[in-house]
Amino acid sequence: MTVSSANRMRKTKRNMIPLPNRIIESDETIKISGTTQWMVADNEPDANSVIAYLQSQFKILETLYSPLATENQRTYRIEFRKRAQPIESEEEYTIKLQHEVGLIEAYSRNGFFYAAQTLLQLLEVDLHESGSWSLPIVELADAPRFPWRGMHLDVSRHFYTVAEVKRFLNYLARYKFNRFHWHLTDDHGWRIESKRYPRLTEIGAWRTDALGNRYGGFYTREEIEEVVAYAETLCITVVPEIELPGHSRAALAAYPELGCTGVVQPVPTEWGVFEDVYCSGKEATFEFLTTILDEVIELFPGQYIHIGGDECPKVRWKQCPHCHARMKSEGIDSFEELQSYFVHRIVKHLQERGKQAIGWDEILEGGLAQSAIVMSWRGVAGGIAAVEAGHQAIMSPTSHCYFDYYQGPRETEPEAFPNDLPLARVYEFDPFPPELSLEQSKSILGGQGNVWTERIPNWSHLEYMLFPRITAMAEALWTKPERRDYADFMKRVEQEIPIWQQRRISFRKP
Ligand code: ACM
Ligand code: ZN
Repeated sequence: MTVSSANRMRKTKRNMIPLPNRIIESDETIKISGTTQWMVADNEPDANSVIAYLQSQFKILETLYSPLATENQRTYRIEFRKRAQPIESEEEYTIKLQHEVGLIEAYSRNGFFYAAQTLLQLLEVDLHESGSWSLPIVELADAPRFPWRGMHLDVSRHFYTVAEVKRFLNYLARYKFNRFHWHLTDDHGWRIESKRYPRLTEIGAWRTDALGNRYGGFYTREEIEEVVAYAETLCITVVPEIELPGHSRAALAAYPELGCTGVVQPVPTEWGVFEDVYCSGKEATFEFLTTILDEVIELFPGQYIHIGGDECPKVRWKQCPHCHARMKSEGIDSFEELQSYFVHRIVKHLQERGKQAIGWDEILEGGLAQSAIVMSWRGVAGGIAAVEAGHQAIMSPTSHCYFDYYQGPRETEPEAFPNDLPLARVYEFDPFPPELSLEQSKSILGGQGNVWTERIPNWSHLEYMLFPRITAMAEALWTKPERRDYADFMKRVEQEIPIWQQRRISFRKP
């Protein structure tokens, strides 16, 4: 990129988050109006769909701020041009806005989409400050540091509606995340409709506390399709999680015969890790899970299925004749190996259907099928071990990525999981551990923030736990380390706050 001598570097960047990796900005601006021409070569549906998205966002900005002028405006032209080859990343983009024309280049729809997000951020900060639809004269070349930029949402402990999930996706899109890890099943509620196993949502989606209050909800298959299609428009891959072999009390409430004891128990209302898990001896368990996964595959076109794998107590297996018979017939000596047998069967089933399994780092225990990806949450050791064993890994350690932890002094914050994750610590997150070589680091796909919802009962509380930490996570996953500076980031967060206020997003004041 060349520096035009008329332009000078601005010290304070505008509100762009995550910070683009190269930017030359001037104090001069151009005006965007209703007569702006968006130019695309023929046969470029990727650029066309992003322009349609941009225009839909302009409609929203018009209702939030001021209408686009249509009269007496000099027409500005912005051309979208597809690159034949990526230079640095398939998701890269460049924006060059000059006085007469603008040029946006990208290799993929994701690239055009992130260019659009950057334009929207630049537009909105001025719209808010002056009501004017203006963009800076700017040259900007940008590409993400990691291909996996994820946020997770637990809809089992507390349920979030389709409309709320879409808002969550909007926030991911604004900050250039590209993976939505949807934690659809857990002990406290099964949230995805099944054709073959209807009791999962008739029974497993609902829990009743000691006072008789019933709580729950689930997504129909049509609603799941709606969310997946919506995410697709935002260049976000939805990664569904079906937890196994543990965190399965909601499923066992519906189909108790899939547990070791067969004892009928309700969907629990106390938080925690439960001893009743799927029986690894009964074939019915595998018939159930593979059928569910086949139904899930029908709904989620993405490459990845998350199969949980965390926190599976072995108490019931140790006492179960079916599990013991399985160990005997398979020549298995330990309960860790039995878990590994369980996970292997599921990973293989998914692999045969062209899907890649992801599991929490416990799936390493007892040996892991090579194609599975490890999501490291108990620190980064699991991710390092996974890479050293030839797997790919995603870093999501509790130390930097658990958004259910406190953001500030506990006495002034709403109740949270009793651990701390201040904004500055999220900002320090680096998915590359120094233990790995540069070559090995290529197997680290990226990182992810997780929103467990035991103590997050409603939407505004969820927003409060997300904002501003989601912006720090976004920058940690996108911007190169040498570009990152916390003081500069905080200035940009300050500029972003009025925009959250305008959109009535609840956030924690940093
Ligand atoms: C987890 O937090 N149990 C993955
Ligand atoms: Zn058993």
